[in-house]
Amino acid sequence: MSIDQLAETAQAMVAAGKGIIAIDESNATIKKRFDGVGIECTEENRRAYREMLLTTPKLGDYISGAILYDETLRQSTKAGVPFTKVMMDNGILPGIKVDKGAMPLAGFPGELVTEGLDGLRDRLKEYAKLGAKFAKWRAVITIGEDMPSGTCIEANCHALARYAALCQEAGIVPMVEPEVLMDGSHDIDTCYEITEVTLRSLFGSLYEHNIMLEGTILKASMVVSGKDCAEQAGIEEVAEMTLRCLKSSVPATLPGIVFLSGGQSDEDATAHLNAMNQMGPNPWPLSFSYGRAMQSAALKIWSKDLVGNVAAAQQTVYARARDNGLAALGKWKKA
Ligand code: 13P
Repeated sequence: MSIDQLAETAQAMVAAGKGIIAIDESNATIKKRFDGVGIECTEENRRAYREMLLTTPKLGDYISGAILYDETLRQSTKAGVPFTKVMMDNGILPGIKVDKGAMPLAGFPGELVTEGLDGLRDRLKEYAKLGAKFAKWRAVITIGEDMPSGTCIEANCHALARYAALCQEAGIVPMVEPEVLMDGSHDIDTCYEITEVTLRSLFGSLYEHNIMLEGTILKASMVVSGKDCAEQAGIEEVAEMTLRCLKSSVPATLPGIVFLSGGQSDEDATAHLNAMNQMGPNPWPLSFSYGRAMQSAALKIWSKDLVGNVAAAQQTVYARARDNGLAALGKWKKA
Protein backbone atom coordinates (compact mmCIF):
# COMPACT_ATOMS: atom_id res chain seq x y z
CA MET A 1 0.00 0.00 0.00
CA SER A 2 1.44 3.31 -0.99
CA ILE A 3 1.41 6.35 1.19
CA ASP A 4 -0.79 8.01 -1.43
CA GLN A 5 -3.54 5.44 -0.93
CA LEU A 6 -3.38 5.76 2.86
CA ALA A 7 -3.46 9.54 2.54
CA GLU A 8 -6.43 9.34 0.18
CA THR A 9 -8.40 7.23 2.66
CA ALA A 10 -7.48 9.52 5.55
CA GLN A 11 -8.60 12.58 3.60
CA ALA A 12 -11.88 10.90 2.65
CA MET A 13 -12.53 10.22 6.34
CA VAL A 14 -12.45 13.94 7.08
CA ALA A 15 -14.04 15.19 3.84
CA ALA A 16 -15.67 18.60 4.26
CA GLY A 17 -18.91 18.41 6.23
CA LYS A 18 -18.58 14.70 6.99
CA GLY A 19 -17.59 12.66 10.01
CA ILE A 20 -17.54 9.18 11.47
CA ILE A 21 -20.18 7.22 13.35
CA ALA A 22 -18.66 4.97 16.02
CA ILE A 23 -20.70 1.80 16.40
CA ASP A 24 -17.84 -0.39 17.57
CA GLU A 25 -19.09 -1.20 21.05
CA SER A 26 -17.77 -4.55 22.24
CA ASN A 27 -20.45 -7.09 23.17
CA ALA A 28 -19.96 -6.15 26.84
CA THR A 29 -20.44 -2.43 26.14
CA ILE A 30 -23.44 -2.79 23.82
CA LYS A 31 -25.00 -5.02 26.50
CA LYS A 32 -24.78 -2.07 28.91
CA ARG A 33 -26.46 0.21 26.35
CA PHE A 34 -29.17 -2.40 25.60
CA ASP A 35 -29.73 -3.02 29.33
CA GLY A 36 -30.38 0.71 29.69
CA VAL A 37 -33.35 0.49 27.31
CA GLY A 38 -34.51 -3.03 28.23
CA ILE A 39 -33.33 -4.87 25.11
CA GLU A 40 -31.88 -8.36 25.33
CA CYS A 41 -28.29 -8.48 24.08
CA THR A 42 -28.57 -11.33 21.56
CA GLU A 43 -26.52 -11.60 18.39
CA GLU A 44 -29.69 -11.03 16.31
CA ASN A 45 -30.64 -7.89 18.25
CA ARG A 46 -27.12 -6.52 17.86
CA ARG A 47 -27.27 -7.26 14.14
CA ALA A 48 -30.73 -5.72 13.73
CA TYR A 49 -29.68 -2.60 15.64
CA ARG A 50 -26.57 -2.11 13.53
CA GLU A 51 -28.62 -2.75 10.37
CA MET A 52 -30.99 0.04 11.42
CA LEU A 53 -28.04 2.41 11.88
CA LEU A 54 -26.13 1.48 8.72
CA THR A 55 -29.15 1.49 6.39
CA THR A 56 -30.26 4.98 7.41
CA PRO A 57 -31.32 6.60 4.12
CA LYS A 58 -28.76 9.12 2.80
CA LEU A 59 -26.44 8.56 5.77
CA GLY A 60 -23.53 9.08 3.37
CA ASP A 61 -24.51 12.76 3.00
CA TYR A 62 -22.82 13.45 6.33
CA ILE A 63 -21.02 10.25 7.29
CA SER A 64 -17.70 9.29 5.68
CA GLY A 65 -17.04 6.15 7.70
CA ALA A 66 -18.34 3.86 10.43
CA ILE A 67 -16.24 2.03 13.02
CA LEU A 68 -17.47 -1.51 13.48
CA TYR A 69 -16.79 -4.26 15.99
CA ASP A 70 -15.36 -7.60 14.81
CA GLU A 71 -18.78 -9.30 14.91
CA THR A 72 -20.44 -6.48 12.95
CA LEU A 73 -17.82 -6.44 10.19
CA ARG A 74 -18.84 -10.02 9.42
CA GLN A 75 -22.62 -9.46 9.53
CA SER A 76 -25.21 -8.77 6.82
CA THR A 77 -28.63 -7.20 6.52
CA LYS A 78 -31.67 -9.42 7.05
CA ALA A 79 -31.85 -9.63 3.25
CA GLY A 80 -28.30 -11.03 3.18
CA VAL A 81 -26.29 -8.03 1.95
CA PRO A 82 -22.96 -7.72 3.83
CA PHE A 83 -22.83 -4.54 5.92
CA THR A 84 -19.54 -3.64 4.25
CA LYS A 85 -21.27 -3.65 0.84
CA VAL A 86 -24.18 -1.53 2.11
CA MET A 87 -21.63 0.94 3.42
CA MET A 88 -19.41 1.12 0.34
CA ASP A 89 -22.53 1.53 -1.87
CA ASN A 90 -23.40 4.59 0.23
CA GLY A 91 -19.91 6.07 0.22
CA ILE A 92 -19.24 5.07 3.85
CA LEU A 93 -15.81 3.59 4.59
CA PRO A 94 -15.76 0.52 6.82
CA GLY A 95 -13.57 0.85 9.90
CA ILE A 96 -12.76 -1.69 12.59
CA LYS A 97 -11.95 -1.46 16.29
CA VAL A 98 -8.88 -3.65 16.77
CA ASP A 99 -7.86 -3.11 20.38
CA LYS A 100 -8.85 -5.67 22.99
CA GLY A 101 -9.82 -3.16 25.61
CA ALA A 102 -8.20 -1.21 28.44
CA MET A 103 -6.91 -3.43 31.26
CA PRO A 104 -5.43 -2.53 34.68
CA LEU A 105 -1.81 -1.40 34.36
CA ALA A 106 0.18 -3.63 36.72
CA GLY A 107 1.91 -1.66 39.45
CA PHE A 108 -0.26 1.44 38.89
CA PRO A 109 -3.56 1.01 40.74
CA GLY A 110 -6.44 2.81 39.01
CA GLU A 111 -4.63 3.20 35.68
CA LEU A 112 -5.25 1.37 32.43
CA VAL A 113 -3.27 0.17 29.46
CA THR A 114 -4.86 -0.99 26.23
CA GLU A 115 -4.12 -4.53 25.07
CA GLY A 116 -4.34 -6.20 21.68
CA LEU A 117 -0.95 -6.10 19.96
CA ASP A 118 -0.37 -9.89 20.05
CA GLY A 119 -1.51 -11.39 16.74
CA LEU A 120 -2.55 -7.96 15.45
CA ARG A 121 -0.59 -8.30 12.19
CA ASP A 122 -2.64 -11.36 11.18
CA ARG A 123 -5.92 -9.87 12.35
CA LEU A 124 -5.28 -6.72 10.30
CA LYS A 125 -4.57 -8.81 7.21
CA GLU A 126 -7.93 -10.50 7.62
CA TYR A 127 -9.74 -7.21 8.32
CA ALA A 128 -8.26 -5.71 5.15
CA LYS A 129 -9.60 -8.69 3.17
CA LEU A 130 -13.01 -8.22 4.80
CA GLY A 131 -13.02 -4.63 3.52
CA ALA A 132 -11.78 -2.50 6.44
CA LYS A 133 -10.16 0.73 5.26
CA PHE A 134 -9.33 2.17 8.65
CA ALA A 135 -8.95 0.95 12.23
CA LYS A 136 -9.31 2.32 15.73
CA TRP A 137 -7.35 1.76 18.94
CA ARG A 138 -8.49 3.52 22.12
CA ALA A 139 -6.13 4.27 24.98
CA VAL A 140 -7.61 5.53 28.23
CA ILE A 141 -5.97 8.16 30.40
CA THR A 142 -7.55 8.69 33.82
CA ILE A 143 -7.19 11.92 35.79
CA GLY A 144 -7.10 11.51 39.58
CA GLU A 145 -4.89 11.92 42.60
CA ASP A 146 -1.31 11.46 41.36
CA MET A 147 -2.74 10.28 38.04
CA PRO A 148 -1.97 9.86 35.26
CA SER A 149 1.57 8.61 35.77
CA GLY A 150 4.19 9.21 33.11
CA THR A 151 4.45 5.42 32.86
CA CYS A 152 0.76 5.08 31.96
CA ILE A 153 0.97 7.76 29.28
CA GLU A 154 4.17 6.31 27.84
CA ALA A 155 2.93 2.69 27.82
CA ASN A 156 -0.29 3.68 26.07
CA CYS A 157 1.40 5.90 23.50
CA HIS A 158 3.96 3.19 22.75
CA ALA A 159 1.13 0.71 22.12
CA LEU A 160 -0.70 3.25 19.93
CA ALA A 161 2.44 3.71 17.83
CA ARG A 162 3.01 -0.04 17.41
CA TYR A 163 -0.63 -0.47 16.42
CA ALA A 164 -0.39 2.41 13.94
CA ALA A 165 2.71 0.91 12.31
CA LEU A 166 1.00 -2.48 11.86
CA CYS A 167 -2.07 -0.79 10.38
CA GLN A 168 -0.05 1.12 7.80
CA GLU A 169 1.85 -2.04 6.89
CA ALA A 170 -1.55 -3.68 6.19
CA GLY A 171 -2.76 -0.71 4.11
CA ILE A 172 -5.22 0.39 6.78
CA VAL A 173 -5.39 3.96 8.10
CA PRO A 174 -4.84 4.03 11.86
CA MET A 175 -7.16 6.20 13.91
CA VAL A 176 -5.18 6.81 17.09
CA GLU A 177 -7.34 7.58 20.11
CA PRO A 178 -5.83 8.67 23.41
CA GLU A 179 -8.97 9.43 25.41
CA VAL A 180 -8.49 11.60 28.48
CA LEU A 181 -11.56 10.70 30.53
CA MET A 182 -14.06 13.33 31.68
CA ASP A 183 -14.59 11.43 34.95
CA GLY A 184 -13.45 13.29 38.06
CA SER A 185 -13.70 16.64 39.80
CA HIS A 186 -10.63 18.20 38.14
CA ASP A 187 -10.91 21.58 36.45
CA ILE A 188 -10.50 22.39 32.78
CA ASP A 189 -6.89 23.59 33.25
CA THR A 190 -5.93 20.15 34.55
CA CYS A 191 -7.62 18.52 31.58
CA TYR A 192 -5.67 20.86 29.29
CA GLU A 193 -2.35 19.98 30.91
CA ILE A 194 -2.93 16.21 30.80
CA THR A 195 -4.26 16.29 27.24
CA GLU A 196 -1.24 18.29 26.08
CA VAL A 197 1.27 15.97 27.78
CA THR A 198 -0.52 12.95 26.33
CA LEU A 199 -0.64 14.30 22.77
CA ARG A 200 3.02 15.34 22.85
CA SER A 201 3.96 11.87 24.05
CA LEU A 202 1.77 10.29 21.37
CA PHE A 203 3.28 12.24 18.49
CA GLY A 204 6.77 11.55 19.89
CA SER A 205 6.01 7.81 19.82
CA LEU A 206 4.49 7.98 16.33
CA TYR A 207 7.65 9.73 15.14
CA GLU A 208 9.90 7.09 16.72
CA HIS A 209 7.92 4.31 15.05
CA ASN A 210 8.15 5.83 11.56
CA ILE A 211 4.42 6.46 11.25
CA MET A 212 3.34 8.31 8.12
CA LEU A 213 1.27 11.10 9.62
CA GLU A 214 -0.27 11.81 6.20
CA GLY A 215 -2.02 8.45 6.51
CA THR A 216 -3.10 8.76 10.14
CA ILE A 217 -6.17 10.27 11.84
CA LEU A 218 -6.25 11.49 15.45
CA LYS A 219 -9.34 10.79 17.51
CA ALA A 220 -9.12 13.24 20.39
CA SER A 221 -11.04 14.04 23.52
CA MET A 222 -11.96 17.68 24.02
CA VAL A 223 -10.49 19.80 26.79
CA VAL A 224 -13.38 20.00 29.25
CA SER A 225 -14.05 20.38 32.97
CA GLY A 226 -14.22 17.09 34.89
CA LYS A 227 -17.77 15.76 35.12
CA ASP A 228 -17.89 16.42 38.88
CA CYS A 229 -16.08 19.75 38.85
CA ALA A 230 -18.16 22.48 40.53
CA GLU A 231 -17.25 24.96 37.81
CA GLN A 232 -18.21 23.83 34.31
CA ALA A 233 -16.56 25.59 31.37
CA GLY A 234 -18.92 26.94 28.72
CA ILE A 235 -18.98 26.14 25.02
CA GLU A 236 -16.61 28.91 23.91
CA GLU A 237 -14.05 28.13 26.60
CA VAL A 238 -14.02 24.42 25.76
CA ALA A 239 -13.61 25.21 22.07
CA GLU A 240 -10.86 27.77 22.66
CA MET A 241 -8.87 25.57 25.09
CA THR A 242 -9.22 22.46 22.94
CA LEU A 243 -7.96 24.32 19.89
CA ARG A 244 -5.04 25.83 21.80
CA CYS A 245 -4.07 22.42 23.14
CA LEU A 246 -4.24 20.75 19.72
CA LYS A 247 -2.27 23.54 18.05
CA SER A 248 0.48 23.16 20.65
CA SER A 249 0.88 19.42 20.18
CA VAL A 250 -0.43 18.09 16.85
CA PRO A 251 1.67 18.43 13.67
CA ALA A 252 0.00 20.27 10.80
CA THR A 253 0.75 17.38 8.40
CA LEU A 254 -1.96 15.30 10.01
CA PRO A 255 -4.91 15.07 7.56
CA GLY A 256 -7.54 15.55 10.22
CA ILE A 257 -8.77 15.31 13.78
CA VAL A 258 -12.07 13.79 14.86
CA PHE A 259 -13.51 13.99 18.36
CA LEU A 260 -15.13 11.44 20.61
CA SER A 261 -18.18 12.52 22.59
CA GLY A 262 -17.05 10.85 25.83
CA GLY A 263 -20.29 11.36 27.75
CA GLN A 264 -21.11 14.90 26.60
CA SER A 265 -24.77 15.60 25.82
CA ASP A 266 -25.73 15.40 22.15
CA GLU A 267 -26.12 19.16 21.98
CA ASP A 268 -22.84 19.98 23.75
CA ALA A 269 -20.90 17.63 21.46
CA THR A 270 -22.34 19.39 18.41
CA ALA A 271 -22.00 22.90 19.85
CA HIS A 272 -18.34 22.39 20.85
CA LEU A 273 -17.40 21.12 17.39
CA ASN A 274 -19.31 23.94 15.74
CA ALA A 275 -17.60 26.59 17.90
CA MET A 276 -14.12 25.21 17.09
CA ASN A 277 -14.83 25.36 13.38
CA GLN A 278 -16.22 28.88 13.67
CA MET A 279 -12.93 29.88 15.29
CA GLY A 280 -11.01 28.66 12.21
CA PRO A 281 -9.30 28.45 9.85
CA ASN A 282 -7.50 25.67 11.70
CA PRO A 283 -4.45 23.65 10.62
CA TRP A 284 -6.58 20.50 10.05
CA PRO A 285 -10.21 19.63 9.33
CA LEU A 286 -11.96 19.09 12.68
CA SER A 287 -14.84 16.66 12.63
CA PHE A 288 -16.57 14.03 14.74
CA SER A 289 -16.33 10.34 15.50
CA TYR A 290 -19.15 10.16 17.99
CA GLY A 291 -20.61 7.01 19.49
CA ARG A 292 -23.12 7.92 22.15
CA ALA A 293 -23.75 11.44 20.77
CA MET A 294 -24.73 9.89 17.43
CA GLN A 295 -26.76 6.94 18.68
CA SER A 296 -28.39 7.54 22.09
CA ALA A 297 -31.59 9.17 20.84
CA ALA A 298 -32.06 6.59 18.08
CA LEU A 299 -31.49 3.66 20.44
CA LYS A 300 -34.24 4.93 22.73
CA ILE A 301 -36.72 5.15 19.84
CA TRP A 302 -35.72 1.82 18.29
CA SER A 303 -35.92 -0.03 21.60
CA LYS A 304 -39.64 0.71 21.93
CA ASP A 305 -40.52 -1.34 18.83
CA LEU A 306 -37.59 -2.99 17.08
CA VAL A 307 -39.37 -3.40 13.77
CA GLY A 308 -42.06 -0.70 13.84
CA ASN A 309 -39.75 2.12 14.86
CA VAL A 310 -36.92 1.60 12.36
CA ALA A 311 -37.88 4.58 10.18
CA ALA A 312 -38.33 6.93 13.15
CA ALA A 313 -35.01 5.84 14.67
CA GLN A 314 -33.26 6.34 11.33
CA GLN A 315 -34.65 9.86 11.06
CA THR A 316 -32.96 10.62 14.36
CA VAL A 317 -29.67 9.11 13.20
CA TYR A 318 -29.85 11.23 10.07
CA ALA A 319 -30.66 14.38 12.07
CA ARG A 320 -27.67 13.80 14.37
CA ALA A 321 -25.41 13.17 11.36
CA ARG A 322 -26.65 16.35 9.68
CA ASP A 323 -26.20 18.50 12.79
CA ASN A 324 -22.67 17.19 13.34
CA GLY A 325 -21.85 17.47 9.63
CA LEU A 326 -22.90 21.14 9.75
CA ALA A 327 -20.86 21.61 12.95
CA ALA A 328 -17.83 20.23 11.11
CA LEU A 329 -18.23 23.24 8.81
CA GLY A 330 -19.06 25.69 11.61
CA LYS A 331 -22.53 26.10 10.09
CA TRP A 332 -24.72 24.49 12.74
CA LYS A 333 -27.43 26.59 14.33
CA LYS A 334 -29.09 25.70 17.60
CA ALA A 335 -32.77 24.83 16.98
P1 13P B 1 -18.26 8.17 22.43
O1 13P B 1 -18.49 9.24 21.40
O2 13P B 1 -19.53 7.57 22.94
O3 13P B 1 -17.30 8.60 23.50
O4 13P B 1 -17.57 6.95 21.68
C1 13P B 1 -16.61 7.20 20.74
C2 13P B 1 -15.64 6.10 20.71
O5 13P B 1 -15.51 5.42 19.73
C3 13P B 1 -14.81 5.87 21.90
O6 13P B 1 -13.78 4.98 21.58
